[in-house]
Order: sequence, then structure tokens, then C-alpha cells
Amino acid sequence: MKGTLKPLISEEALRARIAEMGASIRADYPDDTLTVVAVLKGSFMFLADLVRAIPGEVRVEFLGVASYHGGTTSTGAVQITQDLRSGIDGHVVILVEDIVDTGLTIDYLCRMLQVRGPKSLRVATLLDKPTNREVDVRVDYVGFTIPDEFVVGFGLDLGELFRNLPYVAVYVP
Ligand code: PRP
Repeated sequence: MKGTLKPLISEEALRARIAEMGASIRADYPDDTLTVVAVLKGSFMFLADLVRAIPGEVRVEFLGVASYHGGTTSTGAVQITQDLRSGIDGHVVILVEDIVDTGLTIDYLCRMLQVRGPKSLRVATLLDKPTNREVDVRVDYVGFTIPDEFVVGFGLDLGELFRNLPYVAVYVP
């Protein structure tokens, strides 16, 4: 892959902020078992660090979603490629995303999950890019608000590459 990577968020900054997010999620739900639902694929690395930062009882579930189809701009189409393995009726659900951009994905998923009767449904995203927002979505826990740049690394890809970078970088073509 041609292009250069400009580091944006360091491993140290990611670690420190995700630790804070985990503590703050637990502080909001001190006595509940949390069902953490990770949106694949991009959230896998954030998920791994986030759940280790949440003390107490946590379940982990995965939702397979595709919306960008390998490009660098959103098509707006949300496709469920893998549904949850178990029900969330009465559960305290934290939906985990790597990035909220247009908001279309999280908006769709929140509507889809809300009808399944969770006791609570909140959204945690590592990155928030508010400049491109097309729908007004509530994001309860934000790691970092980022500028309107195409970012890769720490789970985020370009054409399936760069997910393995341990930090977040801006991809400059
Ligand atoms: C990315 C990201 C979010 C979505 C955010 O997923 O993981 O799910 O796009 O964009 P939006 O707010 O504009 O809807 P992508 O489709 O790239 O799939 P991936 O996580 O498998 O890389």
C-alpha cells in the first residue's frame, strides 16, 4: 500500500484514555453485569483493552457489520454479517465502536438493538469524527474526538490493511 502514515494518537495515550473509559463505564453501572457488544471488525483492539479496564462482571458479544466496503468514504449502507449469539432482553448493553463518522452505522444498530428490550443501551466509541455526521446519534463514551482525516490503525483499516498498527495514524495517500 502506497501512502504515508502520520501518527495521530500514541499507544500511551490510547492506553491511558481507554483505562479512564473503562472506569467511567463501571462507575455508571456499579452493580450490573455488562453486555459489551463489539461491532466488527474495527473495534476488536479497542474492545480487548476496554473490557480489561472494566472491573466486575462483563459478557462479550460480537456484531458483524459492513458499511464502507473497502473504500475511504461511507456508502451509507449497513449490512449485518453476523448477529448476536444471545438475547439482550433486560441487559445493560454497551455497544462498542472504533469510530463514529456519519453516525449511520451506530444509528442503525441502536434501533436494531433497542427493540430487543435491553434495560439500558449506551454507545462507547474510541474515535468520534463529528464533522461528517449525517444523523444525530447519542454517543455516551468518547475516547478521542478527531479531525476530518482518514485514520487507520488500532483496528481501523484501509482495504483491510493497517488494523495491526498499535497506534492511530492519519493515512496520507
Ligand atoms: C466503520 C466503523 C464503523 C463505521 C462508522 O466500519 O467500524 O462501524 O464504519 O462509520 P459511520 O459512522 O459513517 O457509519 P467499516 O464498515 O469500515 O467496517 P470494519 O469495522 O469491518 O472495518
